[in-house]
Amino acid sequence: MAQKLAFRPFRAIQYRILRRSQFRRTFLCALQAGSPLVRSLLASLTVLAVAMAAPVADAQKVALFIDVSKPGPKIDRNLFGQFAEHLGHGVYEGIWVGPDSKIPNTRGIRNDVVAALKAIKVPNVRWPGGCFADEYHWRKGIGPQRTVTLNPNWGGVIEPNTFGTTEFMDFLDQIGAEAYLSVNVGSGTPQEASEWLEYLTTAQPTTLAKERDANGHPAPYKVAFLGIGNESWDCGGNMTPNHYLSQLKIYSRFVRNFNPAQQDKQQMLKIAVGPGGGEPRWTEWTDAIMKAYQNHTWSWDMNGLSMHSYTVVKWPPSYASVGFGETEYAQILKSTLEMNDLVEKHSAIMDKYDPEKKVALVVDEWGGWYAPLPGSNPGFLAQQNSLRDAVLAALNLNIFARHADRVRMANIAQMINVLQAMILTDKEKMVLTPTYYVYKMYVPFQDATFVAVSIDAGTYTHGDITLPRVDAIAAKDKAGKLWLAITNVDPNQSAEIEVTLAGINAKSAVGETLTASKVDSVNTFDAPNSVIPKPFSAKAQDGKLTLKLAPKSVTVVAVEQ
Ligand code: AHR
Repeated sequence: MAQKLAFRPFRAIQYRILRRSQFRRTFLCALQAGSPLVRSLLASLTVLAVAMAAPVADAQKVALFIDVSKPGPKIDRNLFGQFAEHLGHGVYEGIWVGPDSKIPNTRGIRNDVVAALKAIKVPNVRWPGGCFADEYHWRKGIGPQRTVTLNPNWGGVIEPNTFGTTEFMDFLDQIGAEAYLSVNVGSGTPQEASEWLEYLTTAQPTTLAKERDANGHPAPYKVAFLGIGNESWDCGGNMTPNHYLSQLKIYSRFVRNFNPAQQDKQQMLKIAVGPGGGEPRWTEWTDAIMKAYQNHTWSWDMNGLSMHSYTVVKWPPSYASVGFGETEYAQILKSTLEMNDLVEKHSAIMDKYDPEKKVALVVDEWGGWYAPLPGSNPGFLAQQNSLRDAVLAALNLNIFARHADRVRMANIAQMINVLQAMILTDKEKMVLTPTYYVYKMYVPFQDATFVAVSIDAGTYTHGDITLPRVDAIAAKDKAGKLWLAITNVDPNQSAEIEVTLAGINAKSAVGETLTASKVDSVNTFDAPNSVIPKPFSAKAQDGKLTLKLAPKSVTVVAVEQ
């Protein structure tokens, strides 16, 4: 349990009150004397009074305590996974431009995007959907002749199938990530899915393996994760839990991974469709799947239960992704923090049937979902990405890390040009979003060991919304270095974090901080550096670190000993 520490802003407040009353006394005496100096002082004070009416900018003190001698679970690197659906410009233009494009590319895949993704060490990419996955037929996307189809889910546009299995696996190879394939349960068959896996993974000279060889890849591919359906309670076929369970058992049994390197070690993990919210419909779904898991026989298995939860507030998504103020900032962040309760609610059901936590909760679709950008195809889910999204991303990553014993994978939606993206592209132009920079700053947390943080965060209030002022996580990396990620949610006041470290003699903290002038500051193709991380450092005194964090900021530091 988090141990609450005394919150100590009172001294500072008393000091400010004292200073103000002394000043008031001196000023009133001079006013009675009626000197000309007083008149000019009066004018200056009018200006000062106006300035003082603006939001108070004094730093709020927050005490944070870390005991490094009590390590927690591993923060699985797969918590930083991505999702790329055939949707809008997520794949076509975002990743794939084709080998004949003037945009620099390697075998049709954009070099600028690959370089940017390599820098954030993407652990896995979920593909080809989303709702699209339950209409995807893999054979249409292999070989020299591709079948041109439609994408009825997302704008009804042409699906050229030029980006298929070979291209996806090549893309993963270029960015150094693992495959998370979502197989078609809704409109496909177990045979179609099992043949896809045979095509991808067998080392034996079957007809399908020879076809893979002819398509340029003699060696079997590695498929690390297999998603069995997507939102099967809705766009994936509107199934009841029992109907889905009968599908899950069949797909789990017959969609095999034959890669010799994945038989004993690095086995493919199978992820079942899980809940899409916290209402009884979803808790009943989780209960039914986990109950079946508890009684499963040798013939089927699952290693993960998927959960989808977007920050929307109102459906259909109507919040603007840029051009908003503090009210929308506070409302969206309040809504995003509900992720914590959702994770805890479904984890509690999972604990009932799987106390050893063998099945991971996989939050494989999450993020801010706002109104489509004016002028864009509404089916393309195009939105801007602001400083608010950076704060939102950090808060969610912190929630996942705090539940790292159960939440072992998460995939933000979506990687490029769709919803809360890392990257936006427009023909040859590319810009990195504030969310991208949070992922970059959080790289040291991948596979690091969670270290509990005790904090009395204080509160930030706007209108009828009150949120924790500060949020923080800590972790030790493989080299033993301690990392801290601290988010100051308050958009008006800086926060002075006094860090007490037990078991470490801290000398300083060095890292980066991400903030901007406004809550809706964004990076654009013309101004790509409005929201970028800046160097940050702090010295320790008597073993205690004091970090002064800007309003609405995300800061990641390594503690130097
Ligand atoms: O990410 C967009 C869509 O949201 C996905 O296709 C679907 O799974 C979810 O409803």
